[in-house]
Amino acid sequence: MNIRKLPKIELHLHLEGAAPPNFIRQLAFEKNIDLTQIFNANGDYCFSNFNEFLATYEAACQVLKEPEDFHRLTRSILEKSAENGVIYTEVFISPDFCGGGDLTAWKEYLAAIEEAANSAKEDLGIEMRGIVTCIRHNGPSIAKKASICAAETASNFVIGFGMGGDELVGTQGDFTYSFNMADEAGLGLTTHAGEWGGAESVRQALQDLRVTRLGHGIQIIDDTNLIREAIDKKITLEVCPGSNVSLGIFENLSMHPINSLLKSGLLVTVSTDDPPFFNTTMTSEYNNLRDVFDWDEDIFKLINQNAIHAAFCGEEQKLILLERINSAWTKT
Ligand code: HPA
Ligand code: ZN
Repeated sequence: MNIRKLPKIELHLHLEGAAPPNFIRQLAFEKNIDLTQIFNANGDYCFSNFNEFLATYEAACQVLKEPEDFHRLTRSILEKSAENGVIYTEVFISPDFCGGGDLTAWKEYLAAIEEAANSAKEDLGIEMRGIVTCIRHNGPSIAKKASICAAETASNFVIGFGMGGDELVGTQGDFTYSFNMADEAGLGLTTHAGEWGGAESVRQALQDLRVTRLGHGIQIIDDTNLIREAIDKKITLEVCPGSNVSLGIFENLSMHPINSLLKSGLLVTVSTDDPPFFNTTMTSEYNNLRDVFDWDEDIFKLINQNAIHAAFCGEEQKLILLERINSAWTKT
């Protein structure tokens, strides 16, 4: 199977986290900003643990200043995704980096991002949707602004609300106000949980935020009762194996629980998270899963079907995606 060319659905990709180092360096050069400290000798992003990752990430974001920068970034990441066979992608976009939570500014950034997404759909055939994302370590009151931005711009393009950032700061329940507001606006809900905060963080996410999807969610593996609850509630896991290995949660892919999670009956999907940071692509994620766990066309078809069912877009779009996935992922 030619994995790179086969169609894929991605549900967990951070817009800024998908910025290639060359892209960030070019903007830094144009804006006369010194960012040399965030790159290593090979020119890659430099970090050795999660907190350093977040610091490098936020430093890189300093060069993303104007809506035009986000237009260029969106175009660049969609080209990369399309090269790897992605036909539908839900992308986390944070108002914290797009005007600091100011609604008027946010609308301008969003318009630039959506314009780039429309043009990529025209000439690359890739569909993008946005999940407005608050950043946990920035606290509940900044998150409230993000949820106002999300609720005010809910559309066919902005279809979800999520939370990223440092899972060890505060509790999921600190953000109920924002998630309730997004829910009332008809947005789909997801939060980073069970990446660093253990199964307890997953429990809180389900109880307090009533999400249908979990960013990562992998640490649910430590709680059999919670696994049963998540299966009953049809909760979907946005698993990003390359990210987890790169950040040192597991020593290598063979130690990662993704295969056990799938076998337990959970709805598992596969994404890249922040591809250039973790030196990954959807193609390499799939290749590695095939090599390490023997995943075949049937399993890849299933994880893409899971992704379509859990996607926050409308039913009409889902039917189109299902047809493409079902016809392409067949054993030859
Ligand atoms: N975890 C939490 N927050 C993030 C991540 C991640 O992997 N990537 C970008 N923001
Ligand atoms: Zn993430």
